[in-house]
Amino acid sequence: MQLYIGGLSDNTTEDEVVALFSKIGTAESVRVIRDIGSGKSRGFAIVRMPNNTEGEEAIKKLNGLMLADRQVLVARMHETLPGEMEFREWLRDNAHEVLERIGVRSAQTVLDFGCGSGVFSIASASIVGHRGKVYALDVRPGALERLREAASRKGLDNIETILLDRSTVSIVLENESVDVILLYDVLQEIQDKPGLVKELHRILRQDGLLSVFPMHLGTDKFLNMINALGLFRFRERYGPPGFPSASEVINFTKLIP
Ligand SMILES: C[S@@+](CC[C@H](N)C(=O)[O-])C[C@H]1O[C@@H](n2cnc3c(N)ncnc32)[C@H](O)[C@@H]1O
Repeated sequence: MQLYIGGLSDNTTEDEVVALFSKIGTAESVRVIRDIGSGKSRGFAIVRMPNNTEGEEAIKKLNGLMLADRQVLVARMHETLPGEMEFREWLRDNAHEVLERIGVRSAQTVLDFGCGSGVFSIASASIVGHRGKVYALDVRPGALERLREAASRKGLDNIETILLDRSTVSIVLENESVDVILLYDVLQEIQDKPGLVKELHRILRQDGLLSVFPMHLGTDKFLNMINALGLFRFRERYGPPGFPSASEVINFTKLIP
């Protein structure tokens, strides 16, 4: 089982985290997640415990505990692939620059599918400006509420939130109505991945861009899946130079079957 431990101080080491989990059971590996550029801790670590019962016990006993004067959060998390957690942090820190680099432009319409609290919706909204629009879609009303609050604090009035129903991939938007679709760190939660890709193909304009960060799936697996559908053409992979990650930002153009 893979666990997340957050709330760590900047100088908490792997050894200290191992010592903490070893009170409960075997911690096969611990990795403090560090900033790609500076090497500084991001304040959380990934812990692998081979025994699920011990993992559950660790959550029960360690979540909320004080470590170096800080309260830690311990929870189960999706399995991660090499490099992608660091990549995810980099992507969120550089959201504005990355979106401009991949081709988001003033006056465009952007759809952020599985927007969460909206890091990429907010960055997109500031790029597309008042002549553009961002549709921010999620299944969690609380996340959309936080996004609306953040947008209002920043004076952004070009984001429309849409609450989705987890049981369907259909989206209430017209055919070929958006210029850019962001599918970042959400595919792991989608049952009908091919169905969602088909729905996004319907909504994207003919010269539009689909940008995917296939966290927890990996670039290779996602490329196999999307290529088999024959709906999009691979354009490029994008990430920080010299940093290998199993999942990167992958961009596609639309194929007209
Ligand atoms: C790990 S978060 C990523 C949020 C954001 N894209 C980011 O990268 O910061 C995944 C998000 O996908 C949302 N989600 C899960 N299932 C979904 C579905 N069927 N349709 C739309 N969003 C979904 C979750 O509620 C969550 O906010």
